[in-house]
Amino acid sequence: MFGCGYLGATHAACMAELGHHVLGVETDAHKLAALRSGQVPFHEPGLPDLLRRGLDSGLLRFTDDYCEAAQFADLHFIAVGTPQKKGEYAADLSHVHSVIDRLAPHLSGRHLLIGKSTVPVGTAADLLVRANAQVDDGHIDVVWNPEFLREGHAIDDTLSPDRIVVGGAAQSCERVAEIYAPILAAGTPLLVTDLPTAELVKVAANSFLATKISFINAISEVCEAAGADVSLLADAIGHDGRIGRRFLNAGLGFGGGCLPKDIRAFMARAGELGADQALTFLREVDSINMRRRTAMVELVSTSCGGDLLGANIAVLGAAFKPDSDDVRDSPALNVAGQLQLRGAAVTVYDPCAMANSRRLFPTLSYAQSVQEACAGADAVLVATEWSQFVEIDPDDLSPIVRRRVVIDGRRCLPGDRWHAAGWVYRALGGTPVRHANTPKSPEPPHFLRDHDVRLDDHVGVVPTLA
Ligand SMILES: NC(=O)c1ccc[n+]([C@@H]2O[C@H](COP(=O)([O-])OP(=O)(O)OC[C@H]3O[C@@H](n4cnc5c(N)ncnc54)[C@H](O)[C@@H]3O)[C@@H](O)[C@H]2O)c1
Repeated sequence: MFGCGYLGATHAACMAELGHHVLGVETDAHKLAALRSGQVPFHEPGLPDLLRRGLDSGLLRFTDDYCEAAQFADLHFIAVGTPQKKGEYAADLSHVHSVIDRLAPHLSGRHLLIGKSTVPVGTAADLLVRANAQVDDGHIDVVWNPEFLREGHAIDDTLSPDRIVVGGAAQSCERVAEIYAPILAAGTPLLVTDLPTAELVKVAANSFLATKISFINAISEVCEAAGADVSLLADAIGHDGRIGRRFLNAGLGFGGGCLPKDIRAFMARAGELGADQALTFLREVDSINMRRRTAMVELVSTSCGGDLLGANIAVLGAAFKPDSDDVRDSPALNVAGQLQLRGAAVTVYDPCAMANSRRLFPTLSYAQSVQEACAGADAVLVATEWSQFVEIDPDDLSPIVRRRVVIDGRRCLPGDRWHAAGWVYRALGGTPVRHANTPKSPEPPHFLRDHDVRLDDHVGVVPTLA
């Protein structure tokens, strides 16, 4: 397994769990040392136990030695990163190329490279040529086996996936199916395709998900302008089986190490293929998504009376999504950084992503708990929907904040409950203010809109401790 990050370490441990002998190859010395000693260098529920079991059984080992890897295996998974190129939309394939260039010269006989990294269509065919040009004796085949795991659910998604997709020559695809035999025996569908289709499946899936999120966020902008509630709207349209409710949560939008860079790389690749017009809508998907971050900064600013200078803002959440410590392109941290640049004193708390956040944004302040982050806050922004934030009792925070203003960046909080506890509750996408004790009021809910809420509106309901 070449590359033992979020994807590779999980896949390595899961393959050992299936009974295979696995050697993980990782070039980052810190990650390698951690994995060898049974420590998972990132947060993934259940993975520490699986890793420990793999190491103890002797089925799983880690190295940085390509020569050892070449001698150890004839099936080689590629799970290294494919980040966005600096200053370009295209994917940076240097890590993938480095795997080929370091591995191939050590290979003899027949070997199969199984690509799991997300790559631009056409990469596998190039790698086939690149790899075979570097072997003296033998043949290397390449198949693509895209990965659909979600961080936070990575083990389940690997051992009980929705589907397994493998693209390439029939005989090589059969070998991959053998690796996954227990999973397939449990009823997981196997889709065998050609190479370009397998590569495209992954970026098409991510583009669809990104589009669904940006669709509801675009509707959310209209809801705000019209005084409608985007969450109720999503419930209503989500009942239609053709639409479905999942990925229709308006809020701060998507981030992380996959969706943003994947849709950009997809656009870049379509351009190279002369099919750029087909994907121009993804540019809009991207820009709707990025607009959420600036809109959120504006909403926080408005909630603080239009000026962030000197305001204390608690940002709850730093990871790009709950149950992960991944802060790559995290909307939460991006907004926290922008708030700080506008003069606010920002204190961030996240249950798992503190160390990664500190590395990426060392100038923000970090707290050890929700309570510490919220002490003296003029506004509390929930930026990642960790269940521990969704379950916060507003009465616990009321005595410690300076002003009772909560901004629900993920539309995940029970707004009525916060309102009943005397808080001003704000969210992008229309904020219905219902009174908890009058749920069946014949009055239509009153909606706060960003532009019609000023600090004055809060003064009557927000006591200050100062
Ligand atoms: N993270 C996810 O949820 C997820 C899901 C599906 C697909 N993917 C795709 O999988 C790929 C990996 O993503 P990730 O999130 O695991 O990235 P990551 O950055 O967490 O892991 C990549 C690892 O590869 C290592 N590496 C780099 N060059 C190497 C080399 N030459 N030899 C050995 N190791 C090397 C890095 O040190 C790093 O640990 C990407 O293409 C990504 O788009 C990720």
